[in-house]
Amino acid sequence: MNLTVSALKNVGVEVSGFDINQPLTEDIKAELKSLWYEHAILLFRDQDISPEKQIEFSRIFGPLETHPLKVNTSDEYPELFVLENGGDKDNFATAFYEGEEIVGRLDWHMDLHYTARPNHGALLRAVVVAEEDGLTGFGDLAKAYDALDDDTKALIEKLEVAYSFSMQRRNMRFVNLGGYEPGPGLPMKPADIGFPDFADAVYPMVVRHPMSGRKVLEVVEQFLDRVITPQQFGLSNDESIELLERLIAHSKQPEFTYFHQWREGDMVLWDNWRAMHCTTGTKPGVKRLINRTTIEGDVTLGRVLVAE
Ligand SMILES: [Fe+2]
Repeated sequence: MNLTVSALKNVGVEVSGFDINQPLTEDIKAELKSLWYEHAILLFRDQDISPEKQIEFSRIFGPLETHPLKVNTSDEYPELFVLENGGDKDNFATAFYEGEEIVGRLDWHMDLHYTARPNHGALLRAVVVAEEDGLTGFGDLAKAYDALDDDTKALIEKLEVAYSFSMQRRNMRFVNLGGYEPGPGLPMKPADIGFPDFADAVYPMVVRHPMSGRKVLEVVEQFLDRVITPQQFGLSNDESIELLERLIAHSKQPEFTYFHQWREGDMVLWDNWRAMHCTTGTKPGVKRLINRTTIEGDVTLGRVLVAE
């Protein structure tokens, strides 16, 4: 069996040439894993796959973890995290953008980033797809880092950034709040969804990937709050804000991102230590169902900021 690899638009690759329902050799497993490290975003299409197979396949990439949001885990398969639009939970995820009602839109983020210990990766499988909308965007922050100019690279090498968890999008300082209105059913505080009050998480602005050694620009818009003590590095407060705005705009450019329009049965695996992702959401009532498995993060990439 030989794997076929073809580039997606801008970042990531599609991998085919194997049958997930046949036993995979150790060589194929090793090749899949190395493609994951090389490209960060892998698309698999047209695999006839059951929840059990998704779980088994995901284990090639590392031990699985269950998500702290217990409300969204599957009763039958604790390793599956169910992302559903068009069901009775829509009310918790509906907001208005330029007057348009949208379910489940999420800004660019890395999963569990706010804990300082993000999961290593995740695999999404489309069970029910929306005919339009419902795209998932992926952004390669190693490529975004590589494309920075040398002066910026030298500056950010020394800096740290803090992320501040909030249930309210309006509290996020670096997302686009133009035309945004929260819906009436959105959770207001972490306890509303059984979350604790997370302390801020701090990361070096450039994180070295624990496996590939590549440098990753650790600046992602969701929950991004501030540069730590910018004055110590010759930056005023305003300059530190401008720097973060510039880096966010840089990383979201089309050349570092890929938006996936789902077909039934598609699977996308991404490296959450390197790639950010976002969702465009759907119109109210539109059915969309994605099953996610999560690959455990066994390295703490940031640190939790303990109040002094
Ligand atoms: Fe996510």
